[in-house]
Amino acid sequence: MMLFYTLDLFLLHILPTTTAAAAGAAYTAKDFILLNCGESSALNDNSRRSWDSDERTRYAPPNEAAISSASVAFPMNPFVSQVPYETARVFHSPFSYSFPVLTGPECLRLYFYPTTYSTFNSSQSFFSVTANGFTLLNNFSAFLNSPSPSEPSFKKEFIINVQENQRLKVTFIPNTNSSAFINGIELVSLPDHLYFRGDHMPIKFVDRLFYLTNDSALENLYRLNVGGNDVEIQDDSRMFRAWSQDDDYILGADFGYTPHAEDLPIKYTDQTPPYSAPEIVYTTSRVMANTSISLEWAFPVDSGFFYLLRFHFCEIQFEVIEQNERVFDVSVDNQPVDVQVDVIFWTGGTQIPIFRDYVVWDCSYIFWNRVSNDGRRGKKDLRLSLSPNTRGHPKYNNALLNGLEVFKLSDANRSLAVANPEPTGSSSPSPLALKLPGNKKNKGSCVIYPVMGSLIGILAMVIAVCYSRQSIYKHGLSITSRYRTLTTGSRLPLPSDLRRYFSLDDIKTGNFNGNN
Ligand SMILES: *[C@@H]1O[C@H](CO)[C@@H](O)[C@H](O)[C@H]1NC(C)=O
Ligand SMILES: *[C@@H]1O[C@H](CO)[C@@H](O)[C@H](O)[C@H]1NC(C)=O
Ligand SMILES: *[C@@H]1O[C@H](CO)[C@@H](O)[C@H](O)[C@H]1NC(C)=O
Ligand SMILES: *[C@@H]1O[C@H](CO)[C@@H](O)[C@H](O)[C@H]1NC(C)=O
Ligand SMILES: *[C@@H]1O[C@H](CO)[C@@H](O)[C@H](O)[C@H]1NC(C)=O
Ligand SMILES: *[C@@H]1O[C@H](CO)[C@@H](O)[C@H](O)[C@H]1NC(C)=O
Repeated sequence: MMLFYTLDLFLLHILPTTTAAAAGAAYTAKDFILLNCGESSALNDNSRRSWDSDERTRYAPPNEAAISSASVAFPMNPFVSQVPYETARVFHSPFSYSFPVLTGPECLRLYFYPTTYSTFNSSQSFFSVTANGFTLLNNFSAFLNSPSPSEPSFKKEFIINVQENQRLKVTFIPNTNSSAFINGIELVSLPDHLYFRGDHMPIKFVDRLFYLTNDSALENLYRLNVGGNDVEIQDDSRMFRAWSQDDDYILGADFGYTPHAEDLPIKYTDQTPPYSAPEIVYTTSRVMANTSISLEWAFPVDSGFFYLLRFHFCEIQFEVIEQNERVFDVSVDNQPVDVQVDVIFWTGGTQIPIFRDYVVWDCSYIFWNRVSNDGRRGKKDLRLSLSPNTRGHPKYNNALLNGLEVFKLSDANRSLAVANPEPTGSSSPSPLALKLPGNKKNKGSCVIYPVMGSLIGILAMVIAVCYSRQSIYKHGLSITSRYRTLTTGSRLPLPSDLRRYFSLDDIKTGNFNGNN
């Protein structure tokens, strides 16, 4: 326990103080490139962004026409956007696009529509993609990675730091006897310290500090407007990030409440500048229902990688205006990554947004001994849980989340690549499949948890007791908590009647007395 507090104080100390004044103007990306591969003229997409043709572009080699071919999708699924998906560039040998961009973090989005084209069949296409020394994809089949037959096109988002005097060089390398293809390439430069926050901003990694250095690459896996609707790319803070609703990832049937207050202005700060996330992410939220004991989500991820989780918080309910009114713990795979989170304590008031980063390492493949010859370590679900912490007797037993981003970190080999999913009828595992109750106690899940002696031992015991109690009550109350309310106003009752159910008072030891 003490450990966590020491760390918290340290983090608070190094963070810039919150100033309630709105800080800075909206972000404008210095580099912004949209390349519609295989297309011969400039076209607008559904969000009215103009995509350039990649023919005779200065980003491609001069012999482009000789070493690659342009192809048109046939048949074209009517539900797939024509720009940039209707055309592709096909490569039979390694091919590089080279972008002269500024030094710093660049967001690279690769667009794929696996279908048949005039000159080739994408189901037989296996290839690698590298960028500035990172392996983004290896032996990749867009066909096997397609989200679903009804939604066959998809994009992959990576964040790469371009070092001084470097260009961003994206290389497509077909497997032997195969070909590679790409439908569209998007490049947007990001604010310098948005995701790579620098050495002075270490990230919590269980009870340690993790330094996310700029020689890592990130892949965005999930970006959610928790408790709200999908946010289209044109409604993002000029980085064209799509934020989706979180409903599909909720574990169990407990959706809680989704208070929102679109009319409330969000007071951005130096610490949380306006580009961190659009207002709509902070003015919509999900909170716990009366009868619930936690908010829980599950996200399928690839085993064997570090993950960066960014939680976005903002108190917008009129009931919660002071410190110690809503206090909760954040856990990943049943291990606490932060305790006694009090958003008002962090921000100093309501309508002030804040985000917090945590790093976790998924190592379940070691336990399942799952690494196969092709490096397949399997998928697992990363389970997130927010549960009230009643140690300081807060006014309400509740938890809150407004937004969430999940990134995979490149590994020691500078790779983000994994094996293709098994070529079954429904290729990638659907999050819904993970909602089966049997999966909830997946003993294979593990977030690295360094042994720190008896202190942690006691903590683990308390958590174990707490968790088993929670399970009991979850069971008993599951019928009443099986409802979902979409409220239109921001005024919502917050329950306090559950406090007695899992108060830690009766298992309190000397170690757990302080800090109330
Ligand atoms: C593409 O290849 C798949 C098998 O890999 C085959 O089922 C399909 O018919 C092919 N499509 C065309 C148009 O040839
Ligand atoms: C990456 O970090 C190193 C060391 O902190 C620094 O010298 C370099 O300028 C950074 N590069 C970028 C692109 O930020
Ligand atoms: C590639 O194709 C050639 C000729 O069809 C064949 O001999 C060779 O074994 C193939 N290589 C691989 C790796 O499939
Ligand atoms: C890096 O590559 C080496 C050699 O291919 C392999 O043995 C090792 O397991 C890889 N490391 C990771 C973290 O994947
Ligand atoms: C590439 O992926 C396919 C499909 O998952 C697999 O059958 C094949 O063995 C892989 N090839 C290599 C070289 O890993
Ligand atoms: C939740 O709590 C509020 C206030 O205590 C109460 O009015 C409401 O009926 C409760 N809802 C449920 C489903 O128990």
